[in-house]
Amino acid sequence: MATNDTVIWTLMIVVLVVFISQSCVHGESRVPCFFIFGDSLADNGNNNHLKTPAKANYLPYGIDFPKGPTGRFTNGRTFVDIVAELLGFENPIPCFATTRRPKDMVRGLNYASGSAGLRDETGTHMGANVNLNKQLLNHKATVKHIASVMGHKQSSNKHYLNKCLYSVGMGSNDYMNNYFQPKFYPTSTKYNPEQYATLLIKQYSRQIKTLYMYGARKVALVGLGQVGCAPYSISTGTNGSACVDKMNDAVQFFNEKLKSLVDQLNTNLTDAKFIYVNTYGMSGSSAERTTTGLKVSDVNCCPVNEIGQCVPSAAPCKNRSEHMFWDLFHPTEMANLVTARRAYNSSNQSDTYPMNIGHLAKLRL
Ligand SMILES: *[C@@H]1O[C@H](CO)[C@@H](O)[C@H](O)[C@H]1NC(C)=O
Ligand SMILES: *[C@@H]1O[C@H](CO)[C@@H](O)[C@H](O)[C@H]1NC(C)=O
Ligand SMILES: *[C@@H]1O[C@H](CO)[C@@H](O)[C@H](O)[C@H]1NC(C)=O
Ligand SMILES: *[C@@H]1O[C@H](CO)[C@@H](O)[C@H](O)[C@H]1NC(C)=O
Ligand SMILES: *[C@@H]1O[C@H](CO)[C@@H](O)[C@H](O)[C@H]1NC(C)=O
Repeated sequence: MATNDTVIWTLMIVVLVVFISQSCVHGESRVPCFFIFGDSLADNGNNNHLKTPAKANYLPYGIDFPKGPTGRFTNGRTFVDIVAELLGFENPIPCFATTRRPKDMVRGLNYASGSAGLRDETGTHMGANVNLNKQLLNHKATVKHIASVMGHKQSSNKHYLNKCLYSVGMGSNDYMNNYFQPKFYPTSTKYNPEQYATLLIKQYSRQIKTLYMYGARKVALVGLGQVGCAPYSISTGTNGSACVDKMNDAVQFFNEKLKSLVDQLNTNLTDAKFIYVNTYGMSGSSAERTTTGLKVSDVNCCPVNEIGQCVPSAAPCKNRSEHMFWDLFHPTEMANLVTARRAYNSSNQSDTYPMNIGHLAKLRL
């Protein structure tokens, strides 16, 4: 009898352990947590309480978002909101600035801040922002809070933080709100575009290694889009081209170097995996845009003020799912949907290198 009881108990424990570990792997989301670092393309409210006009917590921003305006710089969901959904998260990743309870931090936080950049001074002519260095400090504090609710062993890198997904999308403002704003920043007089890209990537490399030190092992590095094709850039004059070529050329130096940084990081940090997401290439040709229904690529949907953001309460265009841009800088939810699905699912290494976000999430490291 005693032997049978032991066998039964052992079996039950085995079944229970298998069940728990299965539910961790095949539970509601593909990763236990998702941490987001970035700028206005990902911001979900971190700028709302900062002294800056670079905030979007008013209509018509959020007009298509279930909760209305939140601080997202678009009509609906951002790129990272959609990625979080595809990963199986039931709710959007919460905003760092308004999340106080450590138990609400364990599924991840969004640290992104409009106008912020890799460089500390970037975007500061507009007002306050949370640059990447500060976002990393905020994450350092989060790691401590998580340890306080889960216990040091359970929250440790090996048990938890290594299994999370980390998305970092930074650099657009180091061009739009630094290099190409010579009235406020001297960078374009000190460096040519290639030197500037080298400088940015050197700093980025150090910052990503800091994130690795805090336990990140699955990291998606989101490249820069065609900033020279944003309606704002076009409004400054294109010299006969469809877009501002010198801006696009400058960010392409950055993107090339970011992709080779991904190779180096994967070679040097063998217990981690980094991917490059080619949003530049995904904005695509006009032919490709027609197949996605984004017919209007050069005109914003909401009426804008002098800094290129939506005029408060002004009525936006009716057919916004056909517009690539919401205001003068930021893509519509539909454009975000197209890039996020591709980033998650593409089998083309020109879109996501060397693998897509879905595969990165599933990876056993
Ligand atoms: C405008 O385009 C012409 C011809 O491509 C080029 O020579 C010139 O440098 C461009 N000017 C500016 C300001 O980019
Ligand atoms: C990777 O390692 C090589 C060789 O040690 C080194 O030259 C390079 O700077 C490293 N790159 C990164 C991003 O760590
Ligand atoms: C809807 O989009 C088309 C382009 O597809 C544009 O020509 C038209 O003016 C738009 N209509 C409205 C009401 O915004
Ligand atoms: C991903 O690709 C598969 C197979 O092509 C498809 O069935 C699925 O709907 C795609 N998912 C997304 C989110 O696009
Ligand atoms: C991958 O994408 C690139 C750039 O969009 C395209 O030129 C190429 O044909 C694609 N490859 C495949 C196999 O679809």
